[in-house]
Amino acid sequence: MTRFAGRLDRMRTAKLGKLEVGRIGLGTMGMSHGYTGAGSDDAASIRTIHRAIDLGVTLIDTAEVYGPYVNEELVGQALRGRRDQVVLATKFGLVSHTGGAPGGMDSSPENIRIAVEGSLKRLGTSFIDLYYQHRVDPGTPIEDVMGVLAALVAEGKIRYIGLSEAWIPTIRRAHAVHPVTAVQSEYSLWTRDQEEVLPVLRELGIGLVAYSPLGRGFLTGAVRTTADLDDSDFRKTNPRFVGENFERNVRSADEVRAIADEAGVTAAQVALAWLLSKGEDIVPIPGTKRVSRLEENVAADAVVLTASQIAALDALTPAEGEHHTEAQMKAIER
Ligand SMILES: NC(=O)c1ccc[n+]([C@@H]2O[C@H](COP(=O)([O-])OP(=O)(O)OC[C@H]3O[C@@H](n4cnc5c(N)ncnc54)[C@H](OP(=O)(O)O)[C@@H]3O)[C@@H](O)[C@H]2O)c1
Repeated sequence: MTRFAGRLDRMRTAKLGKLEVGRIGLGTMGMSHGYTGAGSDDAASIRTIHRAIDLGVTLIDTAEVYGPYVNEELVGQALRGRRDQVVLATKFGLVSHTGGAPGGMDSSPENIRIAVEGSLKRLGTSFIDLYYQHRVDPGTPIEDVMGVLAALVAEGKIRYIGLSEAWIPTIRRAHAVHPVTAVQSEYSLWTRDQEEVLPVLRELGIGLVAYSPLGRGFLTGAVRTTADLDDSDFRKTNPRFVGENFERNVRSADEVRAIADEAGVTAAQVALAWLLSKGEDIVPIPGTKRVSRLEENVAADAVVLTASQIAALDALTPAEGEHHTEAQMKAIER
């Protein structure tokens, strides 16, 4: 049975740089891409986005590569008539329109110019609130990337600039060209390396958007076996979900569940409340395509963990296995 804690009628806000957003955002990737059931019920996904907006979620997160394209189309459809109620975030750089880039990674100025026009069209908007480079492209100096993004800001096509999975030197170089508003990276109870980046983000006034805050669903305790996952589900090849690692990692999920039971809330809420306890400049973007889970996740805004619960979560058994495949890890700056 799902138990909700706290209110569902009003959410706090947070600041990412100068950009104000609801304290908890919504990741829309799994509605169309990557996870079991993606694309199976767009009507339910659109209801989830609408319910999120009604509950005070403003940061809606998509990317060109989700699908590719179909997730942006879905979000654009959901936001018809409601565009002004959200802070719309999307990402470029993992689809190459210039024909040259192996694996699709392409942050060349030419590609960014093409990508932004496509995203604007699919999202049905004249501007993107927060436009992220999806992965740092070793083929294009970050100064060149920021140069074209700053031009897009000046042209009114984007409002704020973000980076995803960039590490400290790149963040500093980028910020020296034009203010970076947010860095979006994986941060959760079982992926902690952003804690090394956070002091630098705070020094520079950059917010942290925490993706996969529920450990791709695992930390909620809802994934007890990988047998139910489609073969196309990303988690099938994620090292944390494979073989002995998976069996061992179930322990971490059980530890989260025990604290949730003590706090009288759900494991998903504990995972989110722990992130919220780490700072007002951290905005998790849990992904779900279901209204009931959205409501549960949003209610985490009102969950207050005790100091001893936070300490127990800080000391959670570390995950076995990297948080991405070996090939994907190569695209993540460290
Ligand atoms: N920048 C990047 O490189 C990057 C990478 C990955 C993700 N992201 C962004 O971050 C967002 C969130 O990350 P994520 O979707 O990978 O992982 P997540 O938010 O940690 O977990 C999502 C998974 O958990 C399930 N779930 C959600 N709420 C639940 C609840 N209360 N109880 C039980 N299960 C629950 C969802 O299933 P249902 O949908 O079936 O509810 C889905 O399978 C994405 O949507 C995307 O926008 C960005």
